[in-house]
Amino acid sequence: MELLVLFFALTSFFDISFSQRYNALFNFGDSLSDTGNVVISSLPYGMTYFGRATGRASDGRLVIDFIAEGIGLPHLPPNTARNVSFHQGVNFAFIAAPALPFEFYHERRLSKGLWVNASVHQQVDRFEKLLPSVCGTPQDCKDFLSKSLVVFGEFGGNDYNTGIFGGLPVSEVRSTFVPRITQAIAEGVERLIGLGAVDLIVPSVLPVGCFPLYLTLYSSSNPEDYGPRSGCARKFNALSWYHNALLLRQLNRFRHKYPAVSIRYADYYAQVFDFALNPLKYGFKDGALRTCCGAAGMGKYNFNLRAKCDQNGSSVCPDPTTHVSWDGIHMTEAAHRIIAQGWLHGPYVNPPILSFINPH
Ligand SMILES: *[C@@H]1O[C@H](CO)[C@@H](O)[C@H](O)[C@H]1NC(C)=O
Ligand SMILES: *[C@@H]1O[C@H](CO)[C@@H](O)[C@H](O)[C@H]1NC(C)=O
Ligand SMILES: *[C@@H]1O[C@H](CO)[C@@H](O)[C@H](O)[C@H]1NC(C)=O
Repeated sequence: MELLVLFFALTSFFDISFSQRYNALFNFGDSLSDTGNVVISSLPYGMTYFGRATGRASDGRLVIDFIAEGIGLPHLPPNTARNVSFHQGVNFAFIAAPALPFEFYHERRLSKGLWVNASVHQQVDRFEKLLPSVCGTPQDCKDFLSKSLVVFGEFGGNDYNTGIFGGLPVSEVRSTFVPRITQAIAEGVERLIGLGAVDLIVPSVLPVGCFPLYLTLYSSSNPEDYGPRSGCARKFNALSWYHNALLLRQLNRFRHKYPAVSIRYADYYAQVFDFALNPLKYGFKDGALRTCCGAAGMGKYNFNLRAKCDQNGSSVCPDPTTHVSWDGIHMTEAAHRIIAQGWLHGPYVNPPILSFINPH
């Protein structure tokens, strides 16, 4: 009994120290974490939590929102917001942002599908430019960033979309894109370390073969193309898997090069793949592969490019918490909440973001 009381006293003590541990949160990435830099959607986007479309590609909060809540900081303002304080953090993520620069796609005649310039390096450029207004001199900013958490990514999803939807074979995307993309992410991480970041979370890419968009556009009559238990498209998950393996290799290199810096991999892949394997364990009664907001009853996955979420002909499922996929490409708030729990408390960030042991 007394031990139990002591235990609760200790945990509440540590909870307090967590909320004070980070002075700010900085995020970089694409539509998985954009909190309003690109606002092109309308309701039902935002319906579950905000009651309006905020630019988040979901019915509610994103993983980064739950991370902010978990460490006791406000939801991140987008870096394009006017007249907003960035002293507790800011978000550089842009919907549709690729990791690689425009030129890479232009040279390959693939740039038509790119409508934002917000590559890894451009996002870090914007951060570098903004820093003096947040924390002053480079030395002051080093002190400031030594108490901040940086979430870098994910990056890569839009690059793979651009290559694959542009008609390149997956094998070519694998050999040409993946090494360059994971290299670009590593360069971004290294620039942030140079500016003073000491605590970074670097997310993996998702198992895109489990998403209605890919499952619908690249459906196959050969059962061997699908995981027997997950129902996900193998070829595309193998591409994501390869990206994550090269990304991990890059991050491990930094563990030796910067022993005073904590760089933690955040595993989106394993959690989302487990949604596909065991949907009921998480309350996803509709299975993991059917879209909530989109073309109800059309095809196997409720997805159709002519009736996308918030456009004519689309409708919303009665209960988004029973779905992983919100619009066929992005996830529901319910899925984001579970993913964030796995990063804050483990096992999908290790040591977890809210671990008792300081990783330094
Ligand atoms: C900016 O914010 C300040 C303080 O909240 C407010 O007094 C001011 O009117 C705002 N300016 C604009 C242009 O919105
Ligand atoms: C992105 O940058 C390239 C080259 O700097 C430019 O040609 C292109 O129009 C830009 N795209 C957008 C959407 O601004
Ligand atoms: C969508 O539906 C509305 C109302 O039925 C119609 O006025 C509009 O033209 C439609 N838009 C498109 C893009 O089909």
